[in-house]
Amino acid sequence: MITVWANHLMKLAAALVALFATISFTAETWAEGQYPGRWSSAEVEQRITALLAKMSLTDKLGQLTQQYPEGKFADDIREGKVGSFLGAHGAANTNRIQRIAVEQSPHGIPLIFANDVIHGYRTIFPIPLGEAASWDPQLVEKAARVAAAEARASGTHWTFAPMVDISRDARWGRIAEGAGEDPYLGAIMAAARVLGFQGTNLKASDSVLACAKHFAAYGGAEGGRDYNTVDISEQTLRDVYLPPFMAAVDAGVGTLMSAFNEISGVPASANHLILQRILREEWGFGGFVVSDSKSVTDMVAHGYAADNDDAAEKAIMAGVDMDMASFSYRSHLEESIRAGRIPIAIVDKAVRRVLRAKFALGLFDNPYADPQREQSVILSADNRTLARDVARHSIVLLKNEGNLLPIGKNVRKLAVIGPLADNSKDLLGTWAALGKPEDVVTVLQGIRHRAAERIEVGFSAGCQIESATPKGLKEAVQLAADSDLAIVVIGESATMSGEANSRSSLDLPPVQLSLLRAIHAAGVPVVAVVMSGRPLAIPWTADNIPAIVAAWHPGVEAGNAIADVLFGDFNPGGKLPVTFPRTVGQMPIYYAHKNTGRPATKERYTSKYIDIPWPPLYPFGYGLSYTTFEFADLKLSTNRIGPFGQLEVSVKVTNTGEHAGDEVVQLYVRDLVGSMTRPVRELKGFRRITLESGKSSEVRFMLNRDHLGFHNRHMTYTVEPGLFKVWVGPNSAEGLEAKFEVTSQ
Ligand code: GLC
Repeated sequence: MITVWANHLMKLAAALVALFATISFTAETWAEGQYPGRWSSAEVEQRITALLAKMSLTDKLGQLTQQYPEGKFADDIREGKVGSFLGAHGAANTNRIQRIAVEQSPHGIPLIFANDVIHGYRTIFPIPLGEAASWDPQLVEKAARVAAAEARASGTHWTFAPMVDISRDARWGRIAEGAGEDPYLGAIMAAARVLGFQGTNLKASDSVLACAKHFAAYGGAEGGRDYNTVDISEQTLRDVYLPPFMAAVDAGVGTLMSAFNEISGVPASANHLILQRILREEWGFGGFVVSDSKSVTDMVAHGYAADNDDAAEKAIMAGVDMDMASFSYRSHLEESIRAGRIPIAIVDKAVRRVLRAKFALGLFDNPYADPQREQSVILSADNRTLARDVARHSIVLLKNEGNLLPIGKNVRKLAVIGPLADNSKDLLGTWAALGKPEDVVTVLQGIRHRAAERIEVGFSAGCQIESATPKGLKEAVQLAADSDLAIVVIGESATMSGEANSRSSLDLPPVQLSLLRAIHAAGVPVVAVVMSGRPLAIPWTADNIPAIVAAWHPGVEAGNAIADVLFGDFNPGGKLPVTFPRTVGQMPIYYAHKNTGRPATKERYTSKYIDIPWPPLYPFGYGLSYTTFEFADLKLSTNRIGPFGQLEVSVKVTNTGEHAGDEVVQLYVRDLVGSMTRPVRELKGFRRITLESGKSSEVRFMLNRDHLGFHNRHMTYTVEPGLFKVWVGPNSAEGLEAKFEVTSQ
């Protein structure tokens, strides 16, 4: 435990120095609007204590209740029965509701308005899985900043983001909302999004309180089926699913959301291990926890609570401070407290945490939004420019045979084909908040705008996204046959991923594959643009189509970003944040797998399927460029370090092609022998760099105990002595290799 605490304190100190370097504060005072979740000011605490002394039990449980603005919600506010709303939008609308609380509720405590601002509020950025494909945390932070500014201007104080669930099963629809399969990439993206949403001052008009969700291990659902059972070891919980949450807490996230799922028999919303031992005692988290929607009363269906009273008692005792949408706290806990089953101190602690957040947001001093500001901030030209840049950085070039891309000067007639080619609503992706289809630049619009007069651009949808038969097939084939190049835009609708949208197949809808085959058979060169909320199994496409880009669901600037890439105005540098399989039968498939006693080889008795090659279609971290890069001179500052030592790894990267471009330099390690088996590779460093043609750069990484350890059978984070391998390269399947040793002293 000491090791855990020592390790965490080092990380915490480093993170806090970095985060609050410009602001000095002690446990007694804090900077205006600071809400790292751990500290508060003496003055705020005194004001909370004074409020608590005046509040009735109803008032207190009201502060722990979040609901939609439905039914007689104004009466609920007047009676002190609600402290937070989700689903209320707009400065004028939230002000109207807020005024009831400030002027007519028992103590005038302001409401906190929350919404799912996941990848933009009105300016919609690529889905988070797409943003993660940029491997550019600074850019992702900027996107969250814009989302926060638009949301706060519209009366939203708190976003239910970042979603930081690790997922290794692409059948799970919510893989779209996170940063993919890897704990390290996920942790970096989690911190970037928290910093982006919260900024350095929660009182600022462009900051919102963030919420790391879904705590915890929601992405581990068996079969990738949403809400399904999660049954994992505590080591896997700690080493795979928790690092992004820990990074969010280290970055100062003010809230977490407890998940729907059980973790090895205990529902997350009543799970003392994660909510008390890990979150409060090991990590020192001081913010508050909100349940996911009705996850408290879901515990009756789980078979973990006898009824809603029992569920409410189990949740608040475990550490869920606020109940979302089940009304179980408000309806049942008064009796529980009067009967002595729930100490009032537990309730007071939860109320104090919630009120701290409201003070940190400045709501007691300024509870209202500014409608004028809202108009000036929403969907501004600058915001769209950033959305286009994030979308360009998120695009992954999967194949480019014969350098078919960028579109050549010889192309005079272009066919833009497919059900997603002139589509707008689906390109916003899942959880698109206030995004509107009319805000979206479609792929056809973007290409037509870029082609201008030089190229004749024809369009044919060819089929619907999921229809039984391709109605427009003949017209599409004819258009392609008459063109110099066909851009076929295919993939998933926005509702084929996201919550409650798990799929048993990862294939393109059959009608779309028929369309693609028919266009390919027309003999025209084809570029496939694949839009999706998850990795898709596209083996035929990979074998037969010369150029393929993965564009995810790219948001409002989709068409411009895709045109920038296809015409070569932007050289794609995105990398896969999640493995692309050959077939759904490979699920779960991920690069950081264990070796097993019989790793896959051509030998008969080894771990593989007999009907497909064992590697994935495209590995984690994979992505091409219009130029080429060479890795050379891998150097280690030493080949031996002690358990608390560190070593520097450097490599020379050269742009050996004709175009300037980005490479994501990735560092992986492997602990060759451990007291528990270790993954064959683990990402422990990356950097997206830009190099002009012919130029080189030396890229350096630091490796220390934070990168080399794991939780052993005693749940102690430890770095064990022994040999390690290190690779630096362009993805998880390639790279220069070296070895080093960790000694016991
Ligand atoms: C949903 C989701 C959660 C979301 C919440 C509020 O069920 O699981 O991610 O933030 O409810 O909309």
